[in-house]
Amino acid sequence: MKIAVAGTGYVGLVTGVCLASKGHQVTCVDVDEKKVEIMRQGISPIYEPGLDELMQQNMLRLTFTVDYESAYKDAQVIFIGVGTPEKKDGSANLSYVYKVVEQIAESVERECVVVVKSTVPIGTNDKIETYMIEHLKNNVRVHIASNPEFLAQGTAVHDTLHASRIVIGAESDYAKTVLEKVYENFEAPKVITNRRSAEMIKYASNDFLALKISYVNEIANLCEIVGADIEDVTRGMGFDARIGDKFLNSGIGYGGSCFPKDTKALSWLASFNDNEIKTIKAAIEVNENQKFKLIKKARKYYEDFSGLTVAVLGLTFKPGTDDLREAPSLVNIPIMLEDGARVKAWDPVGVQNYKKIYPEEIEYCDSIQETLENADICFIFTEWPEVKQLDVMVYKALMRHPIILDGRNCYKLDAFANSGIIYDSIGRET
Ligand code: UGA
Repeated sequence: MKIAVAGTGYVGLVTGVCLASKGHQVTCVDVDEKKVEIMRQGISPIYEPGLDELMQQNMLRLTFTVDYESAYKDAQVIFIGVGTPEKKDGSANLSYVYKVVEQIAESVERECVVVVKSTVPIGTNDKIETYMIEHLKNNVRVHIASNPEFLAQGTAVHDTLHASRIVIGAESDYAKTVLEKVYENFEAPKVITNRRSAEMIKYASNDFLALKISYVNEIANLCEIVGADIEDVTRGMGFDARIGDKFLNSGIGYGGSCFPKDTKALSWLASFNDNEIKTIKAAIEVNENQKFKLIKKARKYYEDFSGLTVAVLGLTFKPGTDDLREAPSLVNIPIMLEDGARVKAWDPVGVQNYKKIYPEEIEYCDSIQETLENADICFIFTEWPEVKQLDVMVYKALMRHPIILDGRNCYKLDAFANSGIIYDSIGRET
């Protein structure tokens, strides 16, 4: 099929490339000429494992352009995959979505389906339809469908090609049939529903996962107080298929471009409708506090950080991405710097982005070893494999004071028996 995709961020680009890999002819549209130029060379402007390779294998079916008119005018399907960032009041900013809708309205010359992949508040697809009808330049039928995305950064290609489910929210048989055809070569259960339910499935899924993490973090905090071990507790819980063993990792709070934004957006939507979604409000609050967990623990060992050398392992919000959005490191490092600490940091891919925020204030190191050298305390914010695989005696050998505060429970407690290392993690004995 002839498909256009608006936006080449995580959602748009991965969707476009994966659809091309299934045999569709895909044109990816972006406003950024530099980005388009890079993609034309078969290079992904975002760090996402496996994406470059898949792009290169499918370049014959991929076109990259800033010329939206030519991309949209005769496309059978147009996916919208632009960002919906959080506004100051917690609601979703839909200006990028509407900009694309406007461009589609002025360009389309044939009957087509406009598919909203961006995460949008419930009811937005209906509003887009009204807006589209009002702004259409040519007399053609445009169907609006919701098709939320469930890919996670770092595993985006796999999550798209082996989707857990494909949700299609459509009001016309035409839209349903076209989308079923788009996805005919994808092996995944298909949930066909109306647009509002599809929109809600996305928020309800993300917010449920955020809730699960906040719940487990609260249980972890209680484990520390009552002398239980969260790793054993969640293992014991996970065998119950009704609970499941995924997303039960306690830590220093969830970050990223989705959970923080989508929990706030649903909470905002509820209160806008004179309703309250108490569980999600609680999840947000728990998460905000959890991000300060290690700093609070650190005060047990040092009153403040002035004059100390602090080692930081991991800057990104999770491994497998260079994305820093809502990363716990971003709320912790400013406190260290404000206290007057010398901060040394290591991250395999996040440093370039961090330098845009802290060009001078942090000493970026090329290796974990260099970071740990002469440090008085070490914070682990991201569970990169390089950190998990490190022999814990390296901390002992290199640090001035081997105190490790681990926000991601990277090591087994046994590893520290009689080591002389202070190891303080989440939900476990010190
Ligand atoms: C998340 C969802 O997992 C995707 O299904 C969804 O499509 C995506 O949002 C989106 O809406 O676009 P993502 O934000 O990329 O994906 O990352 P996750 O792997 O879900 O991790 C989010 C945060 O939760 C990370 O900070 C991670 O460290 C934290 N987390 C995750 C935990 O603290 N514990 C866990 O057990 C799992």
